[in-house]
Parts: sequence; structure tokens; C-alpha cells
Amino acid sequence: MLKSISQYFELLKLSGLDDLFLKSDFNGVNLSQNMDLASLEEKYKNCTKCPLSQGRIKFVYGEGSSTAKLMLIGEGPGAEENKTGKPFVGSAGQLLTKMLNAININRKDVYIANIVKCRPPGNRNPLPSEISACIKYLEEQIEIIQPKILLLMGKVAAQTLLKNGYNMTELRSKEFKYRGIQTFVSYHPAALLYHPQWKKPAWIDLQKIQKIYQKIGK
Ligand code: URA
Repeated sequence: MLKSISQYFELLKLSGLDDLFLKSDFNGVNLSQNMDLASLEEKYKNCTKCPLSQGRIKFVYGEGSSTAKLMLIGEGPGAEENKTGKPFVGSAGQLLTKMLNAININRKDVYIANIVKCRPPGNRNPLPSEISACIKYLEEQIEIIQPKILLLMGKVAAQTLLKNGYNMTELRSKEFKYRGIQTFVSYHPAALLYHPQWKKPAWIDLQKIQKIYQKIGK
């Protein structure tokens, strides 16, 4: 029985029809979503669409649950992320993991991705041309995962997806919709390392998100 089901999924994949089954569940495991993210990462990992690929050790596609209700979006990989291929594993990442734990959210239950998938040299902001070359990957991830909440961490993520020109105070105080998804903006964890006085307002932002996350259930 199992064998014939997996053969059936294989067949759908080969025929390109698996897109129709993106949200299908089998025995509680979302086969198609997991398959999709892994195979898409594989497909894109040698991307050369922008010069950031020249400094790439590893393509940092994204990490986490393909059925996450909460998706977090940062800016771009740093040195540690470039080495490991995983988002937010350096000092900002460790702070992010602690922040999630503080609101009783386990990192493995969310999905974490960045605006650009390769490290900008010296951790500079990604250029508009680099963002345009890369953004399709993130848009596709959001479409597959269909999170209920998006948390945009920092101005680069916010301005790329919301394109509204608001400053950080305005961004944090409002709620947005990105493609119908409830969207919030808070500080980037790296900014909190440089400006510890922003940790208190960041904590207020997180508590707001925790309440909404609890309401919609894991
Ligand atoms: N900063 C980011 O924006 N993303 C990472 O993955 C790490 C640091």
C-alpha cells in the first residue's frame, strides 16, 4: 500500500501535477510540501543570477517547518550562515532562538528565511539588483508554506516586501497584509545586539505576536 502511494506521488511529481496537491496531508505528514522545499533548494543552490554567488560557500535557502504558522524573514546570511547553509545560526541567530524560546515558540516549529540567499560581502545591505534577482525564491517559499503570520525582521525585509517607505517606529506600530497574510515588523536581532535599548520594545512586539500565534494554534 505505502509503496504504491509513494509511487503515485513520484508519478505526480514527474508529470508536474504535484503542485495541485501542495496542501495534501497523508498520515499527518505533509509529503508534498516537504518534498517541494527540499527539491527547490536543490534546484536553486548553484544559482548565479547575481554577483553574491561569487562569495558563496553555501546557499542559505531557509530552514524549519514546511507547515509553519509563523514565518520569520531576515535580510541575508552572515559569515556563519554562509559556512553552514543555515539561516540565523551566528550571534544574531542565537539571540533569535532565545527570543523565540522566551515566547514559548520552538525554532523547529517556525520557518526562517532571508530576503537574499547568499551572503552580501562584509554583511552590507543587499543591493536592489541582488534583491530582485533573489526575491522569487522567497515568494515561492511563502506560497508553499502559506504561513498565517509573517514577522519581518528589520527594515530591509520590511521595505522589500511592504514597499511603503515607513520608518521603523511606524512599521512596528502597524499591522500589514502581505499577500493576505497578517504581517508584523520588528527589529532585526543583529540590531538588538548593537542597540540593547531596543530589546524592550522588541519584547513588546514579540508578546503581541505570541498572543496571535496562540490564538491561531500551532
Ligand atoms: N542576519 C540575517 O538577516 N540573516 C541570517 O540568516 C543571519 C543574520
